[in-house]
Amino acid sequence: MSVLKVKCISKTYGEENNKVKALDEVDLNVGKGEFVAIMGTSGSGKSTLLNMISGLDSVDKGEVLISDENINNYNDAKLTQLRREKIGFVFQFFNLIPVLTVLENVTMPALLTNSKKEEVNNKAIELLKLVGLGSYIHTKPSLLSGGQQQRVAIARALINEPELILADEPTGSLDSKTSKDMMNILRQFCEELGHTLIVVTHDANVAAYADKVVFMHDGKICDTLNLKHSGLKDNEVVRVIASKIEGLSL
Ligand SMILES: Nc1ncnc2c1ncn2[C@@H]1O[C@H](COP(=O)(O)OP(=O)(O)O)[C@@H](O)[C@H]1O
Ligand SMILES: [Mg+2]
Repeated sequence: MSVLKVKCISKTYGEENNKVKALDEVDLNVGKGEFVAIMGTSGSGKSTLLNMISGLDSVDKGEVLISDENINNYNDAKLTQLRREKIGFVFQFFNLIPVLTVLENVTMPALLTNSKKEEVNNKAIELLKLVGLGSYIHTKPSLLSGGQQQRVAIARALINEPELILADEPTGSLDSKTSKDMMNILRQFCEELGHTLIVVTHDANVAAYADKVVFMHDGKICDTLNLKHSGLKDNEVVRVIASKIEGLSL
């Protein structure tokens, strides 16, 4: 089953002589449980593509289907519901709420839709244990390291059991060892819980965890690399991705 179908979408920003074609006839299919990495230079349209997928911004042309439902004609209320129930977000700078505890940050998206506080709390604690933060549930985010804060953000993204997790540079402000831990956690969730994951990254080491790497340039997908069943070892995968980036001059 396809969780996401992006069909020939285009998006232009700006007026008259300031026009920027951020997306130019982009197609993308992502199946259930699949992990896709998106790479490309700054300004190539990666974030715009994620914004179109989550309905945060509207396409000029083309279609976005989530679980075979076309979201193009959704009104604001339906888009909010879609983001709340079907999509989990992970950002570069974590975006945790400083005045709330770790547990409160994770439960917040669920309490907007589910009033059973105890049930939600138990589920959040379960997720926090899975990401290795079981003993920090009553701590404020500012007392945690960057890697720990990003794990809180991952637990928060998963609390509503979304069909799709969108991560924009999730390891962009983490060191390489912490990035690796983060990707292991995300991939584990993908494999064990069947979550579908799209990660934008500049880092070949991060993209190497994906089933498929999509390369963007000037608003277009210029190449795709299938890594599933490639038989390559981890370090070889990183090398293949890095040489692809070099070859494409990204
Ligand atoms: N809201 C916006 N208004 C005007 N221009 C935008 C907007 N969002 C993105 N752009 C432009 O679209 C292009 C693609 O941006 P973006 O998707 O953020 O790239 P990336 O995430 O790959 O760095 C860039 O030239 C950027 O300046
Ligand atoms: Mg971006």
